[in-house]
Order: sequence, then C-alpha cells, then structure tokens
Amino acid sequence: MTNPTFKKKSTVEQIRRRFDNDVERFSNLQTGQSSTVDAPLALELMTSAASVTNPEASHLLDVGCGAGNYSLKLLEKLPNRDVTLIDLSRPMLMRAKARVQAVTNGRIHTHQSDIRELELGENQFDIIMAAAVLHHLREEAEWTTVFQKFFRALKPGGSLWISDLVTHTAVPIEQMMIERYGRYLTELKDEAYRDHVFAYIAAEDSPRPLLFQIDLLREVGFVQAEILHKNSVFAAFGAIKPMA
Ligand SMILES: C[S@@+](CC[C@H](N)C(=O)[O-])C[C@H]1O[C@@H](n2cnc3c(N)ncnc32)[C@H](O)[C@@H]1O
Repeated sequence: MTNPTFKKKSTVEQIRRRFDNDVERFSNLQTGQSSTVDAPLALELMTSAASVTNPEASHLLDVGCGAGNYSLKLLEKLPNRDVTLIDLSRPMLMRAKARVQAVTNGRIHTHQSDIRELELGENQFDIIMAAAVLHHLREEAEWTTVFQKFFRALKPGGSLWISDLVTHTAVPIEQMMIERYGRYLTELKDEAYRDHVFAYIAAEDSPRPLLFQIDLLREVGFVQAEILHKNSVFAAFGAIKPMA
C-alpha cells in the first residue's frame, strides 16, 4: 500500500520540470549547490574517497548527475576515465555532457532516465556516485531496489558514494537539525529563501535517515560502509562491494 504522505509529493514529471529550469544553480564547481550545507566539502570528500578506494577505476557512473559537478571533480583526481551520466532532466544531462567532454578523453555515455526505470547491468562500473538525488525515492522497496541495482552494477571491489539530505528518527533531534538548517539558509540569503527551500523539500523530497541507508547498504551486500561527513540534515557516506 502506498504511504499517503508520498501521494501528496511531486510526481517524477514535476521534479524533472523543476530541474530542467535550474541548470545554472548546479553548474558551479567551486561552491557546489549552496542550499546544501558544506557542499564543497562533500564534493571533495566523496571524490577523494572514491579515488583512493578505486585508483585504477576505468568507468565512473554519476547518478542524478545534474550539471556534472561530481564527475568533474572526480575526473580532476582520476583523469580520462569513461563516464556514464544519468539524469531525469535533459538540459541538466546536456550541460553535464558538455562540461565532462571538455575535460576527459574517455568515452561518455548519457541516459535521460529515472534511476528506478533504468537497467544498469552487472559488473559495469568501478565507482558510482549519487549526490542529492536519492531523496526523491519514496517507498522503502524503491530504496532497496535501487541499492541492489547499484550493487549489481559495480565491479567487485568497486565503491558507491552517496551525498544527500537525511532525516533523523528521534523527533526532537530532527526538529533541532531542521532548525539549524533553517538558520543556515537564512544566513545564506534571507527568510524568504529559507521558506522557499523548505517548501520545495516538503513538496518533492522523501529523505531517509543516514543509518537506514547504511543498514540497507549492508543488507544488499556492501561492506566497509564509511561515513565521510554529517552536518545537520546532510551526510556523505559510502561502501564497497566485496571482491568475491
Ligand atoms: C539536486 S540535483 C543534484 C545534481 C548533482 N548530483 C549535484 O550534486 O550537483 C538532483 C538531480 O537529480 C535528478 N533526478 C531527480 N530524480 C531523479 C531520478 N529519479 N532519476 C534520475 N535523476 C533524477 C534531477 O533532475 C537533478 O538534476
């Protein structure tokens, strides 16, 4: 049975349309997406962790690539690798492709698709990154299916890195963290901006706790899960597919 809260959330089509019109905001490699707390740090930690875990990587996958910031940063550390870019939004995907093409001699594959719908195959990628995208998954079954899909698609020894909005199971802690995030957004711009961000989170997003995601990574077969960073409602973390 569908959770009634999810029925009120934006459809995939509404989410796609919003991102179609938001390409510029995701095209700054220095700041990352500024509505994310510690965006440049998460970008740096995720790509550093991926590059030291799989220094011989030949094929990278960027899920919900947006304008390609995570691929660009990883290619600075692991130059000239093949890159597969996946995004719902065609304008995002085209911007990512153009930016990535400018910095790599590797092959670039693009898929305009919902990650839930796309078949990724088996043992294809050395590194998968999913930044600020999985919070669009709804029912627990979707999370399980997508994490299983990532596990299958990685080569043995490959790694998955996630940076995302997260929630907390203890209500007072969740409230405290949301208040902290509200103050961050107000200081970044103003209260109207805070309300704007909170409104689209309420309409579009269904994030899950960090520990829910770590448990699920282990459940689908990943090992050596690592938390790279956590600050208020944002976390960066990952795990490795065992060799055998
Ligand atoms: C918040 S942006 C993050 C972009 C990029 N990862 C970054 O951190 O700069 C989320 C991106 O995920 C895409 N997206 C949202 N839901 C998706 C889904 N179900 N499958 C694939 N892409 C999705 C959006 O179109 C958007 O470009």
